[in-house]
Amino acid sequence: MNIEVLLTEAEIAAEFAESIEARDLPEKFFYWTPQSVKAWEDVSAESAESVQSTWESLAVRAADLTKVFNGPVPVISFGAGDAQKDRILLRALAAAGREVRYFPVDASQQLLETACAGAEDDDCEVLGIKADISSPMHMVLAADVSEAPRLFLMVGSTLGGFDPMDQIRHVADCVKKGDILIIDAHLHPGTPDLVSDAQKRFVFAPFASAGVLADDGEIEFSERPDDRLDGMFMLTRRFMASRDLRLLVAGSEFSVARGERILLNFRYLFTPEAFRWLLTGHAGLRIVGEIPCSDGKTLTAVCIKG
Ligand SMILES: C[S@@+](CC[C@H](N)C(=O)[O-])C[C@H]1O[C@@H](n2cnc3c(N)ncnc32)[C@H](O)[C@@H]1O
Repeated sequence: MNIEVLLTEAEIAAEFAESIEARDLPEKFFYWTPQSVKAWEDVSAESAESVQSTWESLAVRAADLTKVFNGPVPVISFGAGDAQKDRILLRALAAAGREVRYFPVDASQQLLETACAGAEDDDCEVLGIKADISSPMHMVLAADVSEAPRLFLMVGSTLGGFDPMDQIRHVADCVKKGDILIIDAHLHPGTPDLVSDAQKRFVFAPFASAGVLADDGEIEFSERPDDRLDGMFMLTRRFMASRDLRLLVAGSEFSVARGERILLNFRYLFTPEAFRWLLTGHAGLRIVGEIPCSDGKTLTAVCIKG
């Protein structure tokens, strides 16, 4: 298994310490430990059926989409996770006789290993890239693993785990003439969705991994519109300690006093119009195809450089 490392485990552990000090825990820490990965897999399983039709529909178009590629198709997936979705597309490309080189990019060592192992099982040439996709420099380095034309993926609402206004520009900077980007977003349901038990466990998992028990604290969920763009909403989560706590993470101890709050990873949701504007008006991409998912909760867009 080949994995190129731009982001080391030691760097992630140091950033965890800084984030806990700042009482603000970003997205990457919610996929860091085996407990978090398991919790995320349970959340993913909840929507697996509804996103299946999207991926089947993309798979049907895969050969056509990449017909202008001369030679192997480089597939670079930002925030690839366990690559379950990516592999549907990779297998469709292989079935259409395309030679594929797969580059899953992720901060999670465990998920990256799963992605690489899965691709190898499918007899697909794969190089994992352990990188921080919140860093524009890491994004460019990961994208430069191959020359255009490339097929970029950023799916599973990965964009919504970052500030979308900044992140989509970093993504668009990687997309050159001839490249294709497949990207999705969770759509705003109109009225706030109920938070499932699996989602609660996912958000709590970094604390559970650090020895925190369910009654040691509470997670507060809230949603607010983002004033920068009509139709863009931020779903925030905060942990509040119910008693004085000591978190044990990667061999270091961190204290959190009773009543203190820690900001957790957030999710952005969009109206279809806001998502389209973000891709086109804001990031300068052109949408050449759209695939809604069967339950209407996700919109997937196929984009090229505008
Ligand atoms: C919502 S999951 C989506 C995974 C996959 N694309 C899917 O559709 O199932 C987000 C992925 O981004 C990764 N991730 C989160 N923050 C990251 C960061 N700063 N740098 C690199 N990867 C990150 C996580 O490890 C996770 O695999």
